[in-house]
Amino acid sequence: MENSSNQIYPVIWHKQKNCVVLIDQTRLPQEYSVVEIDRYEDMAQAIKNMIVRGAPAIGVAAAYGMYLGAKEINTSDRATFLQELNIIANVLKETRPTAVNLFWAISRMLKTAYESVDSVAQLKKILLETAQTIQKEDLETCQAIGDHGLSILPSTKEKVTILTHCNAGSLATAGYGTALGVIRSAWREKRLQKVFADETRPRLQGAKLTVWECIQEAIPVTLITDSMAAHCMKQNMIDLVVVGADRIAGNGDTANKIGTYSLAIVADAHNVPFYVAAPFSTVDFELSDGGQIPIEERDSSEIYQIGNTKICAQGAEFYNPAFDVTPAKFIQGIITEKGVIPPQELTKYKTQ
Ligand code: MRU
Repeated sequence: MENSSNQIYPVIWHKQKNCVVLIDQTRLPQEYSVVEIDRYEDMAQAIKNMIVRGAPAIGVAAAYGMYLGAKEINTSDRATFLQELNIIANVLKETRPTAVNLFWAISRMLKTAYESVDSVAQLKKILLETAQTIQKEDLETCQAIGDHGLSILPSTKEKVTILTHCNAGSLATAGYGTALGVIRSAWREKRLQKVFADETRPRLQGAKLTVWECIQEAIPVTLITDSMAAHCMKQNMIDLVVVGADRIAGNGDTANKIGTYSLAIVADAHNVPFYVAAPFSTVDFELSDGGQIPIEERDSSEIYQIGNTKICAQGAEFYNPAFDVTPAKFIQGIITEKGVIPPQELTKYKTQ
């Protein structure tokens, strides 16, 4: 996928250089810069350090990571190749625990390799094509999610205001976005008045990334801190909430960026509809409920300092979970590529 027009693609395959180009999301919005990745170890680091982040984008990056590793395996023996590919898969899997798209994409790459009867040389080509397919499918999926999302917009209002949390936009996917995909489609159809973006402590994906994406397309956006959502709802400033997801359990319980759960409770208290927008690659049917979702804990420096400035006295302990789980009962619907599904009905869509 190449960067053309003003579309934002966080992961790009550079055919001539035989490497992956990532937008460095840790530098936005101050600086738009890219990093070239041609080793799977560097891809693992880029995922860990959040140069690329957001569940579907992590999946796409990991798929390319698998290929980058595969192309360096120096053997024509199939069994040895598969053995080494598994080692690469394990390194990539160690990067971030919550977003299931990472594991989904790696499994798909491994399955492709195991099921192929081709030579190792041919297999390497097939793995690149599979990574490209995963990327292309995610882009199409996000566009479908965006368009299905139009059906949740209340018909009683010509234009609506939507609150979102974290960044579930082009930067977090192959392009277009999930929650921000719905917002993009609403904007295109002239059904959107404005977006409210939660800043999303501590990494500020809302302030740094969602606002940046909206500004690129002149979508009206208002930044609020996470703690302001309840007040805005009480003032009838928010018509609905749409967020992304990192992992959805079979019963619809949804892990997403820390702060999503409290947002869902606040929305419920104010009768504001709360929706999750996510592809089926984010649904983990292996897990029956959200209590089984592994929650990443990140470095405490993310909360005890802002920039390089320490913001609290010495002596405190810290707890920094990066995600929380919103119980399905707070979710009106999950906006997927197959339509808007009540969380309780997700299992009907389980494929073998
Ligand atoms: O820690 P991050 O930035 O990877 O977390 C991202 C989120 O929580 C997103 O909301 C989620 O992945 C949905 S992305 C379409």
